[in-house]
Amino acid sequence: MCGIVGVLGQHEVAPIIVEALKRLEYRGYDSAGIATVNDGQLDRRRAVGKLVNLSDLLVHEPLAGKSGIGHTRWATHGAPTVNNAHPHQAGPVAVVHNGIIENFRVLRAELAEKGIKFQTETDTETIALLAQYYISEGLDPSEAAAKTISRLEGAFALCFLFHGEDDLMIAARQGSPLAIGHGDGEMFVGSDAIALAPMTSRITYLEEGDRAVVTRAGAEIFDAKGKRANRPVKKIKIDATQVEKGGHKHFMAKEIAEQPTVLADAISHYVSTDGTAITLPDGGLDFTQYDRIVMVACGTANYACLTAKYWFEQIARLPVEVDIASEFRYREPPITARTLAIFVSQSGETADTLAALRYCVDKADKILSVVNVQESSIARESDMALPILAGTEIGVASTKAFTCQLNVLALLALKAAQDRGVMDQQTLSDHLSALRNLPGLMNQALGTADAMKSAARKLAQAQDVLFLGRGAMFPLALEGALKLKEISYIHAEGYASGELKHGPIALVDKKVPVVVIAPSDPLFDKSVSNMQEVMARNGKVILVTDSKGAKDAGDGVWQVLLMPEIEPFLAPILYAIPAQLLAYYTAVAKGTDVDQPRNLAKSVTVE
Ligand code: F6R
Repeated sequence: MCGIVGVLGQHEVAPIIVEALKRLEYRGYDSAGIATVNDGQLDRRRAVGKLVNLSDLLVHEPLAGKSGIGHTRWATHGAPTVNNAHPHQAGPVAVVHNGIIENFRVLRAELAEKGIKFQTETDTETIALLAQYYISEGLDPSEAAAKTISRLEGAFALCFLFHGEDDLMIAARQGSPLAIGHGDGEMFVGSDAIALAPMTSRITYLEEGDRAVVTRAGAEIFDAKGKRANRPVKKIKIDATQVEKGGHKHFMAKEIAEQPTVLADAISHYVSTDGTAITLPDGGLDFTQYDRIVMVACGTANYACLTAKYWFEQIARLPVEVDIASEFRYREPPITARTLAIFVSQSGETADTLAALRYCVDKADKILSVVNVQESSIARESDMALPILAGTEIGVASTKAFTCQLNVLALLALKAAQDRGVMDQQTLSDHLSALRNLPGLMNQALGTADAMKSAARKLAQAQDVLFLGRGAMFPLALEGALKLKEISYIHAEGYASGELKHGPIALVDKKVPVVVIAPSDPLFDKSVSNMQEVMARNGKVILVTDSKGAKDAGDGVWQVLLMPEIEPFLAPILYAIPAQLLAYYTAVAKGTDVDQPRNLAKSVTVE
């Protein structure tokens, strides 16, 4: 949610910042801007819409300077206009911001009383004006920024640049991630390490409340109490190809296709080489200590949790509550010392999930997170963080992170069953062996692209689509509907198949395709009855099943999409692929912006 970059370089920085912003564009793409200092002169360029508009502007109105800051925006306060775009400038101060300043109205009123005028509706402008005011009061830029930061409430990652200061940036972090990159005679600031990857692999992650005074000689970091803090410089490995499309038309296509590979790696990370045991980091987890699990997440990650609920309850006999993070803490749920709290997040920065985690600290016995970004706030604030090892996910619609989340959660459910003595070693080994075969089956599922395209052409004509699933396929119906609506803008809803006749069946007619996700498992016959109910009302059914299911489904199905046979336990992971492909090809057929759908951002760092 908004990406920020800062560079104190040895060369012209505008093109370097544009490149870095490209790698952050997944965080927001409503507008973008750059400010530089050139021989002491502060100047900026801003453009509405995708980054390419800023690049075009820079061709006609270049921006010189070896020091600069940049921003790609997901609008919170104020519409996506040039005037509201970052960097915000007030006299000698320019600032880029990711987050929300909660007390900006109070600060604005205070500045207005001093006769200071505002040009925008944004919270960020208040930061620039406040710093300008402190400079006018005699503070130097560094002191003015420190004093400004101390007045801010809410979530922010900030980077300041100043007129007359070619060798100074001030960066600060509270509630939104920020990394400092160390080069040779150059220094960088970025919302994440990916943004800085081609420039440097030496990264310092700021902690909550940190402020950094950055010059080309290095970064001096102060903690929330203003004391000098020693933060480690870490050598990070980011494969540049992870942030390229690798011959695919979209990142989403690449990330869907990558699933067998990343999943195979993730499985071997967590399963012993002899295939008989689940290996967790030191300190492990003993599921005999818990009588309940609480799982909290947002969006797709929440659907991974809902799937895991079936697993934990059915195979480990352990009760699970799943909550949407934005509802969880306001519900004030009782958490006991025998509760394991699990937070699932691709980015590890989702504000609601992080707030829910903090609610559970000191209440739950253990805070466990399942994350993709290992340096994220959620990972760092957990007692134990299990990486899903999906690799960088750029497409705004989550795909490989979902299946990799499911993988880790399935392994945890198996471990819980073993710890609690409700699964014998042979059954565990059988499940692990099936899991190791899963990447191969996923490859076969990916081979159905032509059938998916033909079904997607049908879906692309629809205004509404229903997704149905039973048992552990119900969360997948929700996920299929979410994927379709977010990238194709077709209205879609997921329902438990059995719930259809309690209301949603009223929507069914020949214009509303119904996607039924139903492998031939013990619930299949019931799904067939629900399908018949749809078809009896002229509903058009697209059935995603295996060859046995296709045979047993009978006549009248509009289209069957065939998946390989799989044991029911692992079916939700395999059947995620058709759900993703249907959404992807429908969006392609409709010509929407697959990787950057309207109004969305990848990392939702505001409530
Ligand atoms: C949907 C999607 C979102 C995220 C949600 C949580 O495709 O990507 O629904 O799953 O915003 O994000 P993380 O997992 O980063 O906490």
